[in-house]
Order: sequence, then structure tokens, then C-alpha cells
Amino acid sequence: MVTFESLIKKKDRLAVVGLGYVGLPLAVALSRHFDVVGYDLDARRIAELCSGRDQTLEVSEEEMARAQVDYTHQAETLASCRLIIVAVPTPIDRHRIPDLNPLKGASKTVGKHLSRGSCVVFESTVYPGATEEVCVPILEKASGLVMGRHFTVGYSPERINPGDRRHRLEAIVKIVSGSDAETTRLLSRIYGQVVTAGIHPVSSIKVAEAAKVIENTQRDLNIALMNELSMIFDRMHIDTREVLEAAGTKWNFLPFTPGLVGGHCIGVDPYYLTFKAESLGYHPEMILAGRRINDNMGKYIAERTVKLLIEEGRQVRGSSVAVLGVTFKENVPDIRNTRVGDIIRELADYGIRVRIHDPLADPEESKAYLGVKLEALEALSGVDGVIVAVIHDAYKEMGLEKIAGLCGNAPPLIVDVKGGFSPAEARRKKIRYWRL
Ligand SMILES: NC(=O)c1ccc[n+]([C@@H]2O[C@H](COP(=O)([O-])OP(=O)(O)OC[C@H]3O[C@@H](n4cnc5c(N)ncnc54)[C@H](O)[C@@H]3O)[C@@H](O)[C@H]2O)c1
Repeated sequence: MVTFESLIKKKDRLAVVGLGYVGLPLAVALSRHFDVVGYDLDARRIAELCSGRDQTLEVSEEEMARAQVDYTHQAETLASCRLIIVAVPTPIDRHRIPDLNPLKGASKTVGKHLSRGSCVVFESTVYPGATEEVCVPILEKASGLVMGRHFTVGYSPERINPGDRRHRLEAIVKIVSGSDAETTRLLSRIYGQVVTAGIHPVSSIKVAEAAKVIENTQRDLNIALMNELSMIFDRMHIDTREVLEAAGTKWNFLPFTPGLVGGHCIGVDPYYLTFKAESLGYHPEMILAGRRINDNMGKYIAERTVKLLIEEGRQVRGSSVAVLGVTFKENVPDIRNTRVGDIIRELADYGIRVRIHDPLADPEESKAYLGVKLEALEALSGVDGVIVAVIHDAYKEMGLEKIAGLCGNAPPLIVDVKGGFSPAEARRKKIRYWRL
């Protein structure tokens, strides 16, 4: 079997399959110690990485220049690798059912090029059991080898937070599991080379899979509670953020805030768990209630904006509203599964002309994915209201007054989804201000 020594002495190569938000930083970090192949089936992504650029902005140009990763879209290169880490997407389909096709595809590709004595590690977020029930049979079939006899598997979930400079791969404790104790030890040593925060080995692959999926499920539910509170307090004319600040002075009050839950983790992973639970005859209630609340927040924000326009005496149909930020969260360029699209669609249903700006999102991707045209900020001036949907640093730096300056009539109307600005400042500046 592949050993730590053979890898650290670079007698054996290591591969990362899927070079997105998770795979690329991992490949770059591991390449400081190991001989690393970075494989992705997207030739354009490989060309971009070979040119030293990472459009996800997770790895800086300096880090890219220093990294010694052999990038390729030729799957045959995997045949030269004895440790293969898979970090491909695990999305849901439009019926909110786990779409395991990328994971199955990657397992097949890896299986085809798998040699005896290798180890395959999965990092993608899945439901407990997916690695052994879905991936291992595909690896065995494609390779003609038998797991446990000819190769081993492991699971080590990724817990990074895109756009977050503090919680980087190195700084987050890594959960590690293997199909046998030897594999768990091997993976602990390998990840231990790059993760300085520590390694947390667990007794089975299922435990590691479950740990990851509940982290995001817990977060989703906590945010859903904040969203529900914010809808209740709004009816009472109470500012939720101020309530949370006050409640947060108690030592055990958890610091969650209301907001849109998009992206491909928090809003997606709970469905992996509920899918598996349903297949076992358990119908989750709490988890799905949280999902329903969070998935409806875009519609709620749009409806609240319409009411504010009416309160200010503006004609809704034919009015124009600027939406600042379309990415799934602040300071990332990623628009996949963004819930800002819900706000835009709902406003458009009311006959409102929606004008959109985002300093980080790619205009072509925004067109293809959301069907929206991004405009320059200056082009938006004269709108009837502004929704700061994503609080990118660029908007914080711009400040409330400049943002209010985009409005054509007085008082300017600002909907501050993430509560990035101060209501007191808005009052002083005579801005009609609302936040979740
Ligand atoms: N992005 C995050 O913040 C984050 C955090 C923790 C865990 N995760 C999990 O990690 C996994 C990967 O997420 P991501 O955000 O890095 O995805 P991503 O979409 O950014 O990147 C995935 C890459 O895999 C490639 N790919 C897809 N199918 C492939 C195949 N069959 N063979 C080779 N390459 C293939 C794609 O071309 C893409 O470049 C998911 O399961 C996700 O839930 C993501």
C-alpha cells in the first residue's frame, strides 16, 4: 500500500481531482510537501490555472506562482498517482434531490486509472454512507480491484469558507477517516503536513460524512430562526439587529444573524441529510422547516421593498430598483445558487425595473446563470430605491450616503439586507432605511 514515506520522498505522486474552491487551495498547499497532480475535466479551468490565475480568488497570484502543481485535464495522468483526493461538486437538482453525477463521474474516472496499493480520499460533502455505498462500488467496477484488498478509501470533509482570509485550510481542524486504521493514520499524517490547526481522526467514514453535513445543517437552522424572528419583529416595528445585539450580551446566546442563505453549502447540504433520512423512512421536520424559511427570504425582502415603495408614495409598476450585489455572499465572485435571484425575479413580477450592479461577479456568468445584465454603478443613478443585497467591502467603503445618492427622489430608500449600515446614520441623513 502507498505509504507516507513514499509520498513525502516523492517516490509516489498524489492527485487532487476537481480544482474548484476546495480542490485548488488543497492542491496548492499539498504541493509544498508532495509531488502533486491537479486534475480537472474542465480544460478552460486548467488553462486558467496554468496561466497562474485563479478566478475563484481563493489562491493569490503569488501563491499560484510559487505552487508546484502539475495541472492537467488528461485523466491518464492519474495512473501515476497513488493517493487521489476527490473534491468535485455535490449539488442538488431542481427538485432539491442530491445530484451525485459529478461524484459518480469522478469515481469512474479515478477507478479507470487506479493502481493496486492506492488510496482514494473523498472531500466532497455527502450524506452518511455515500462514500461506501455509491463511490466504492464504482471504483471497484471501473478498476476491477477490490476495496480493502487492492486499494483503500478515506473521507475527509473540507470546511473552508470562501472569501474568508482567516479560516483557511491550514487553520481549520481536519476530520479524517479511513476504511481501516492504517489508512486513517496515513491520512492524518498527510493532512497533518499542511493543517496546522490539528487533525481529528474518527472511527468510521460515516461519522466523518455525518459530522460535515450537520455542521451546515445546524448553521442553516440557526439562520432560519433569525430569519423567522426578523419577520416577527418587523411586524412589531422592532429592529432585529438591535435585539440580537442585546441578547448577545448573554454568554450562551449564539451570534447568528438573519439573511439570505445561498451558495452550494449551507442551503444545499441539509437536503443531502434529509434525502438519506427519507430513504430510511424518517421524515425530517425541523431541518426542512428551516430550509423553507430560508428559501423564502428573497421573496419576503422583495415584498417588503414593494411595501416601502408604496409607503413612500411611489408607483410600483414601472418604478426602478437597484440591486447591489448578486453573488451568494459578500466578497466572493461566486453566483451559483445565489438567492439574490429570488429578489430580482419577485421585483420583476411586480413590474419593477431591476437594475443590477456587482463589483465581483462575472458579467457573462451573471447573464448565463441569472439572466441579468450587470451595469456600472453610475448608470444606476435616479432609481426609486436601492437594495444592498450583498454587503461587499466595496459597498461598505462607498458608505450609506453615496449609496443613497443613487436614488432619484427624496427621501432615498435603502433596503439593507445584511444590516451593513447604521439605522442611526440613516435617520440623521434622512434616508428611509429598512433592514432584516
Ligand atoms: N466551496 C465551499 O465553500 C466548500 C466548503 C466546504 C466543502 N465544500 C464541498 O466541496 C466539494 C467541492 O466544492 P467546490 O466549491 O470546490 O466546487 P467547485 O464547483 O468550485 O469545483 C469543482 C471542480 O470540479 C470539477 N469537476 C467536476 N466534475 C469533475 C470530474 N468528474 N472530474 C474532475 N473534475 C471535475 C469542476 O470542473 C470544478 O472545477 C462539494 O462537495 C462542496 O459541497 C465546498
